[in-house]
Amino acid sequence: MEAKTDVDLDQIQIEYLGRNGYLTQEIKNISRLHKDDRKGAGIIINEAKKIVLDMIVARKNQLKDSSKEWFDKTIPGIKPSVGHLHLVTQAIAEIADVFEKIGFVRVRYPEVEWDYFAFGALNFPEVHPARDDWETFFVDVNPDKKYGPMVLTPHTSSGQVREMKRVGKPPIRMVNIAKCYRRQSDISHTQMFHQFEGLVIDENISVVNLKGTLDYFARNFFGDTRKTRLRPYNFRFTEPSFEVDITCDICNGVGCRLCKAGWLELGGAGMVHPNVLKAGGIDNKKYSGFAFGWGVERAIMMKSGINIPDLRLLYSPDLRFLIQF
Ligand code: PHE
Repeated sequence: MEAKTDVDLDQIQIEYLGRNGYLTQEIKNISRLHKDDRKGAGIIINEAKKIVLDMIVARKNQLKDSSKEWFDKTIPGIKPSVGHLHLVTQAIAEIADVFEKIGFVRVRYPEVEWDYFAFGALNFPEVHPARDDWETFFVDVNPDKKYGPMVLTPHTSSGQVREMKRVGKPPIRMVNIAKCYRRQSDISHTQMFHQFEGLVIDENISVVNLKGTLDYFARNFFGDTRKTRLRPYNFRFTEPSFEVDITCDICNGVGCRLCKAGWLELGGAGMVHPNVLKAGGIDNKKYSGFAFGWGVERAIMMKSGINIPDLRLLYSPDLRFLIQF
């Protein structure tokens, strides 16, 4: 036994030298020896007792000395590495925070979804290319009679009609942040990615409200000097539809190698199509709304100071990369 404390040493002393200790026992056994041997055995055993006792005392002194060793309690400790939240998780929390401040409610809807909520209810025609298995992941189960095939949701817009059905009567102000899946993989795309979707429905909602919300988000997430612009586009579930651009933070809107003449493309937006309101059971004469849906990873890349050369690195387990953020 390695004696580390006084208590250990007392234990050893009892074991060897105590009343029933090993060496004490040996002394008692001397009487059983031949009388010529008794004297020699006594000397050896007493010698052994002395050695053991000396060793115990020496070790006790040693312990006493080392406890007196000078120790500077003010030296800062060594910080254990505790890790941190993933960059995408941080961004999601930040995005939710920005929208919650203006009354949006954060919701989440299924990532494994029916074709109906992902496409059908959103005014996609039966033959739209997004419904092809070259673009969307289909789950290998029997289609539902009412909702059609099962898919991995390709966008957070699949939460729009679900939210209308959940709330029933406007106003609706939702922000749906979730995973989405598409058949794509290159330096700016991953098969699994995240989107955040805003949906606002109320009386008298117009493009002005959309633009105001986008500018508010751009200022609060990207920084005070960033501006947005709307470009006409086409989505099946919004009319009119827009692509939203934001001023490039490298050149501040002048034009550089990274951007298209000063602007970076952020994502889609538009006024909710009357057919979509109808699918959600909302009176499309009385109410109108806007929606927008952008990629979280893309938004991170456009945020000042973060330059990610390949989006796929975000989902690699390489800590040398992840540890930086
Ligand atoms: N769902 C669209 C996409 O993934 C984006 C979008 C959302 C467009 C809401 C308009 C309104 O590209």
